[in-house]
Amino acid sequence: METLSVEAPAKINLGLRIIRLRSDGFHSLESIFSTVTLSDRISVTLNRDTVGISLECSGIFSPGGKNNLVWKTAETFMNAASISGGVTIKLHKNIPSPGGMGGGSSDAAAVLLALQKLTNSTVDLLSIAETLGSDVPFFLLQTPSAHVKGRGEILEPVQLPHFHCVLVHSGENIPTPMAFKLWDEHTGDLTEACRISNYTALNFGAWHEGKPFPVKLDNHFLTLLQSRFPGVARTAEELTRLTVNWGLSGSGPTFYALFRSEAEAKQAKEHLSGKFPWVVRCQSR
Ligand code: C5P
Repeated sequence: METLSVEAPAKINLGLRIIRLRSDGFHSLESIFSTVTLSDRISVTLNRDTVGISLECSGIFSPGGKNNLVWKTAETFMNAASISGGVTIKLHKNIPSPGGMGGGSSDAAAVLLALQKLTNSTVDLLSIAETLGSDVPFFLLQTPSAHVKGRGEILEPVQLPHFHCVLVHSGENIPTPMAFKLWDEHTGDLTEACRISNYTALNFGAWHEGKPFPVKLDNHFLTLLQSRFPGVARTAEELTRLTVNWGLSGSGPTFYALFRSEAEAKQAKEHLSGKFPWVVRCQSR
């Protein structure tokens, strides 16, 4: 019996542009994914003398048993690698889900990497990752940040300057498929400016060239969610009062505000705590 303990980091999206609905039902998009120090903790145990998968969850609520992506991940890996044995997973959740921070996908990638080490299998993790979720390939790469395109599988690592950040969850439940469905049904509601505005965050060459941060961290989901979820609207308003360097992560409803110094981030966290159900301070990796 052997156990590995691993960390599964959250990511934030420094700008997110939805390009189009594809024929397979997914959307092609463009974004900068940046991992942060907020993470889930996972321990994976392989026991060659048993069979089946067991999962113990703690921390922030996460679905148990087969409804959790880590369960499906372990099952898919063991089948693909043709390995018999039992897998026990202990998952301590710190990343809210749904949150737009890729928590579930990061957990899946961490379990794949742990199982590969535990079994010495040479099975192709990337092909498994793509079947588990669009963001899993990014986390499998274990790069701090990347320019992401396609459905999430076209990845080019990028170097970003270090930043401090405060994460704010609006408290609303916005599953990713619901957010994409809104986009499909209501893209006509969006102003031209929102659809094709300057994705300064994607122009990563401009980062820190005399500027504190990209001025606009546009996210195509923001306008759609703001008009339908009061908590999202309130979070956006509050952050606008605080700084220009804020954005919505993924399909929400977690927002981030970026700061150069720890002192500024601490002050912002103090200001926001109590106003929103979940406020956490972290840093880029
Ligand atoms: O791939 P993942 O399981 O994370 O996606 C969840 C849902 O989000 C998909 O079923 C799809 O509705 C939507 N999605 C999408 N385009 C992407 C990523 C996700 O339409 N690039």
